[in-house]
Amino acid sequence: MTAQRIEGKVISDAIRVEIGEETAKLSAQGIQPGLAVVLVGEDAASKVYVGSKEKACQQLGFYSEVHRLSGDASEEELLALIDRLNNQSTIHGILVQLPLPKHINEKAVIDAISPMKDVDGFHPVSVGNLVIGDDSLLPCTPAGVIELIKRTGVSIAGKHAVVIGRSNIVGKPVSMLLLRENATVTICHSRTANMEEIARTADILVVAIGKAKAIGSKFVKPGAVVIDVGINRLETGKLAGDVDYDDVLETAGYVTPVPGGVGPMTITMLMLNTLKAAKQQHA
Ligand code: GUN
Repeated sequence: MTAQRIEGKVISDAIRVEIGEETAKLSAQGIQPGLAVVLVGEDAASKVYVGSKEKACQQLGFYSEVHRLSGDASEEELLALIDRLNNQSTIHGILVQLPLPKHINEKAVIDAISPMKDVDGFHPVSVGNLVIGDDSLLPCTPAGVIELIKRTGVSIAGKHAVVIGRSNIVGKPVSMLLLRENATVTICHSRTANMEEIARTADILVVAIGKAKAIGSKFVKPGAVVIDVGINRLETGKLAGDVDYDDVLETAGYVTPVPGGVGPMTITMLMLNTLKAAKQQHA
């Protein structure tokens, strides 16, 4: 049977309608969620992402500030801006777009963001809360992955979830979130032996390795939920995921397309985090 396509864009739009309604209610109480996005330098992909975040804020009635710093801005300058935003009451969420220019210490910058305003969920306090299971701001892409799985109607508890990739941004946090949902979780990575065999035992397979079409049907258990976090630019200029979509289509039960799967969820989860942060800061 052909897999069901998980429509990330449709799901994301539905969640945005809910966020818009919540925001209107909050605004009636005099609270407008506020997001500050900081972009350093001229990275083309980052510029597109930052533009999309700004647009989402406008669409949902959020207050937003975008700070565009030149590529030779100093670390001190960036840290001073973060300090100002940490203390600015109209801003509930701060996001520094990554990657940063090489002369800036990324860890020092992430550590400087107040955990209360860490809508990316990258601060060590947020990561710790994620592992402990406390109600914190969750990293956006992993939270989007969980939401997509839940909306298939397939329950996560008791299932074998295999995550391919162990990055700090996706692989590790998504594994922790799956564990929180009571899955039995296996993490595979570049040094894993028998990856195919392990992946083929997964009821839920999440792939985040950054290699175009690396995962085909021989990695997929019949009927599995396959979530593709990869976005790779092919030589033809087209986008492709880490999963070979056409190849897994006859084996998987559900699969996310690229584009139009996980991608649209990330910014929506950022907006949800900003709304949550605004509520927490006014509680
Ligand atoms: N660059 C690519 N993805 C992300 C993300 O999720 N957050 C930030 N801050 N930068 C990114």
